[in-house]
Amino acid sequence: METRALTTGKETFDRFLHEYLAKAALPSGVFEAFSYSLRAGGKRIRPSLAMLACECAGGTGTDALPAGLAIEMVHTFSLIHDDLPAIDNDQYRRGIPTCHAAFGEATAILAGDALVFEALSVILNAPWPKAVKLDILARLSDCCGVNGLIQGEYEDIMAEGRPLSFPEVEEIDRKKTSRLFELSLYAGARIATPDARVIGALVDYGISLGLAFQAVDDILDLTSNAQDLGKTTGKDAAQGKATVVKSLGLARARSWAGEMTDRAVSSIAGMDNAAAGALREIASAMLERVR
Ligand code: IPE
Ligand code: IPE
Ligand code: MG
Ligand code: MG
Ligand code: MG
Repeated sequence: METRALTTGKETFDRFLHEYLAKAALPSGVFEAFSYSLRAGGKRIRPSLAMLACECAGGTGTDALPAGLAIEMVHTFSLIHDDLPAIDNDQYRRGIPTCHAAFGEATAILAGDALVFEALSVILNAPWPKAVKLDILARLSDCCGVNGLIQGEYEDIMAEGRPLSFPEVEEIDRKKTSRLFELSLYAGARIATPDARVIGALVDYGISLGLAFQAVDDILDLTSNAQDLGKTTGKDAAQGKATVVKSLGLARARSWAGEMTDRAVSSIAGMDNAAAGALREIASAMLERVR
């Protein structure tokens, strides 16, 4: 998915990440392993969304870079552990061997664990008022623990090979993927403003966009290839994963993803600035993405 805002967001974020890693570098096998996975790239959509939310809420986008870094760290932790033999058992990620394929399972587990705590320290060291840090940390813990990402990953594994209703699949996706999108929008907006109405509209956009994003991820697992995607394809069906595609079929999965992006766009209908325009553009581009 290419939009100007995402291209700029990725460039800005990658510069910030590389500066951070150069400063934080230390002789540790765990640091080496998580840096490998962080540097491997990826679309950086969550940091880009955090910067746009900040701008949309009246702030300066780059003020949200530490939030973007913390979220990208949590996201990368989730990918490293998602790829482990005990979870999805994948060997290829972001165009290179997975963390455990390159460094061994023990190091990959610890690299993922470490990223969670590094994310906390990035937020604690950010140049924001204490109240802002506390609000972001509170949302992060709610979005990522048993109300969010970890629980979603657990339910995803437990659902393998079982027939789930569509609302049950949607619930898994809400937790394993959409809550981190919610956090990205929340954090960006909260840095700019305490206004609950503004934050709420952006959060609603993130929730729906996250659901669309996972639906498209499920579609691409079936329709794309490892070279375009930078990760193994065709595995969801083989592993009996409870996906939107398995539940609705390809055509209805596509139209459902369309409905979710429409819902995302209407959440910010009242916002009339360049960043809101960029968020609307990203929602449409999401449906067409090939990686
Ligand atoms: C992959 O996320 C995991 C899902 C939530 C579907 P991304 O598709 O954002 O992965 P990267 O960061 O670009 O590698
Ligand atoms: C990933 O779901 C959600 C995470 C929290 C990592 P998937 O298992 O579908 O993600 P990919 O396809 O491996 O990136
Ligand atoms: Mg998975
Ligand atoms: Mg996976
Ligand atoms: Mg997938």
